[in-house]
Amino acid sequence: MRILSIETSCDETGIAIVEGEKTASGFTFNVIEHALLSQAKLHAEYGGVYPNLAKREHEKNLPILIKKFEHAEVDAVAVTHGPGLEPALWTGIEFAKKLAEKWQKPLLPVNHMEGHIISSLVKKGEIRDVRFPLLALLVSGGHTEFVVSGDWFKYRIIGKTLDDAVGEAFDKVARMLGFSYPGGPEISKYAHLARQKKLISTIKLPRPMLYTDNCDVSFSGLKTAALYALRDRGGIQKLSSDEIAAFAAELEDAITDVCIAKTRRALEETGARTFVLGGGVAANAFLRESLAQVIKNEYPEVNFRLPELSITGDNAIMIAEAALARALAGIDDTKTGEVRAVGNLSIAG
Ligand code: KG4
Ligand code: ZN
Repeated sequence: MRILSIETSCDETGIAIVEGEKTASGFTFNVIEHALLSQAKLHAEYGGVYPNLAKREHEKNLPILIKKFEHAEVDAVAVTHGPGLEPALWTGIEFAKKLAEKWQKPLLPVNHMEGHIISSLVKKGEIRDVRFPLLALLVSGGHTEFVVSGDWFKYRIIGKTLDDAVGEAFDKVARMLGFSYPGGPEISKYAHLARQKKLISTIKLPRPMLYTDNCDVSFSGLKTAALYALRDRGGIQKLSSDEIAAFAAELEDAITDVCIAKTRRALEETGARTFVLGGGVAANAFLRESLAQVIKNEYPEVNFRLPELSITGDNAIMIAEAALARALAGIDDTKTGEVRAVGNLSIAG
């Protein structure tokens, strides 16, 4: 089965064609073609993503990207219908509807977060031997949630952020440090440097909700603490580049400590046999490696799955893979009626 997919939920415009098959122990995927245009540079000028600006860019980018795919022969068209920025989502949906009509093919709505989970399970083009229950920690610019799945395509949220998402915390503190949007990768670069040089930050940040009796997290306190600490030092201009690097490492440490503590709790609560880290922040090397260590040392029976680095950020391949897995498993997503954008769409259905 071949699917053309469209992703426009945030600031990446993506189109892909992926071919998929069901196997005895999972699925195989073959990426036939894919294209991605990032708006990050444009949004950097404004310090963040603005929905109407994102929408305008998707409207401009989709007709450019589709040129590569015009002669495609596919069995269905898939499109992200949420969660995300509604004006941005609608652009992709309207575009996908026209393609599906033109080619007389079904239109399949995909949940963006399910795309992050399914694509994180793929290794060398294959998903095999997934053991349930599966626990996913999804960390992106807009979301931070612990999702448990007892079986394919069935999800329950057992914890989430009460305020800012992990990516948002990275981006907001990065902005205070004068880094451009998206700040996560910049923080990570400086933090790495600080660890190499064994620099220790004199500014300490809190580890919010570390000991609360649930899997919820909160990161807005980190942002406020960072703001006050920087102000107390007389602003970033008073900090040396080594101090800034050490502070970036402290932020990464604080976020990672919270993620690890809550992952332990979630693993124990769910008895998960597979653990997935997904979403844009899954690109963070320190978080990946720290979680991998914890799983290896403390939960050796848990299978840890990470997305390949090329697809941690938003892209259309993950949307095609989720649509393919569902269709190949016999789920008929055309039945839900007209496809609409749902900004706060939950994975728990
Ligand atoms: O999943 P994603 O591409 O878009 C959303 O659906 O939000 O995630 C984007 C987020 C941004 O906040 C960005 O700063 C963060 O992922 N990010 C990182 C890294 N790479 C991307 N955060 C920390 N370290 C990184 N290496
Ligand atoms: Zn995402």
